[in-house]
Amino acid sequence: MKTEIVTINLKKRSYDIIIGPKLIERAGQMIASCTTGRQAAIVTDSNVSTTYLSVLQASLAEYNFHITLIVVTAGEQSKSFPVLEHVVNRILVAKLERGDNIIALGGGVIGDIAGFAAGIVRRGISFFQIPTSLLAQVDSSVGGKTGINTACGKNLVGIFYQPKLVIADTTVLDTLPPREFRAGYAEMLKYGLINQPDFFCWLEKKWKAVFSGSIERIEAIARSCRFKAAIVEHDECEHGKRALLNLGHTFGHALETATGYDTSRLVHGEGVSIGIMLAHEFAERMNLVSPDLVKRVRNHLHAVGLPTQISAIPGLLPDTDTLMDYIAQDKKVCDGNLTFILPRDIGCAFVAKDVSKIEVRAFLMEKLDKIH
Ligand code: NAD
Ligand code: GLY
Repeated sequence: MKTEIVTINLKKRSYDIIIGPKLIERAGQMIASCTTGRQAAIVTDSNVSTTYLSVLQASLAEYNFHITLIVVTAGEQSKSFPVLEHVVNRILVAKLERGDNIIALGGGVIGDIAGFAAGIVRRGISFFQIPTSLLAQVDSSVGGKTGINTACGKNLVGIFYQPKLVIADTTVLDTLPPREFRAGYAEMLKYGLINQPDFFCWLEKKWKAVFSGSIERIEAIARSCRFKAAIVEHDECEHGKRALLNLGHTFGHALETATGYDTSRLVHGEGVSIGIMLAHEFAERMNLVSPDLVKRVRNHLHAVGLPTQISAIPGLLPDTDTLMDYIAQDKKVCDGNLTFILPRDIGCAFVAKDVSKIEVRAFLMEKLDKIH
């Protein structure tokens, strides 16, 4: 299968995303061509360290990298201040210099913590992403957002810090648990719903091939990266259009916070899936879209096995006011007013400012009443 290269043009911070099979075994050569430093800290998680770490280490050793290994517990709860502090301290104790390298090997959790640490230690150490989950390959490794969660909300502390290279080895997706693959698919589908109606229709027809690992999988990942690159190139630090990438996230992030980031109950992509559905249902309530359009989106999410309702989250959830408090912490809030990404059509989402808190509260209350 062929390798695809997507370039993100950000002037001095431009970089390539290399997408294709069996790339980790060539990562040493690819990383060596982007850096002169020969110290590297690999940040990975307790799952990925048992599978792909040894291949990466061997490849880096061929190019004389001296490696420090930092393994954190797998799962969303690692995106925290204590884990960030641990990662930062390990990098400092290993005496990595600015010209040395931090390599994230894992899903979005690892990319977000390692990238944050890379951006703040010595005010910036060269950073490389080797995303191993579908979600990380189509979204989180691209575009330079990094950060951690707090009890007040998701991704509330972080910085923009671009990697020097992204190596998306599609072979590793074969070991991704089906639930995690589906979660990544939610972020992929998001691009179709935001501004790529043809991609949405293509996914409706081809999703089984994407799931089964055919050539369509690489095509879908490359197309997703191109769509995201086009948005990030115009609005790197989210002063406008980049907010569109948050479709489904205002509700989704509040639900993740409500579960205490417990991934046995809800993983990020599932929160996005429920959030996408809520954004569509809210848009229907506001007479922005037809019930048929909402049904079409729901049908596709159901077909791939993604959750579409708050009631799909096991365990107790907080009341409407607490969820509204989490929503009020969203990064898009401006002058205390809520901002949502809402659909007008398939592939036509817009940034809706000044969304009425009263309407959102009434809408959420109806949804929660159906559960309690
Ligand atoms: P994750 O990093 O927790 O990975 C999901 C699970 O899959 C973990 O248990 C991990 O160990 C396992 N895993 C990863 N690769 C594997 C493989 N190849 N084989 C087997 N198991 C594997 O979660 P995620 O879904 O990758 O990422 C979610 C995170 O990404 C969230 O914190 C979210 O906020 C963040 N995110 C960030 C951005 C951004 O722009 N920075 C964008 C979207 C999401
Ligand atoms: N995942 C949203 C963004 O990168 O902006």
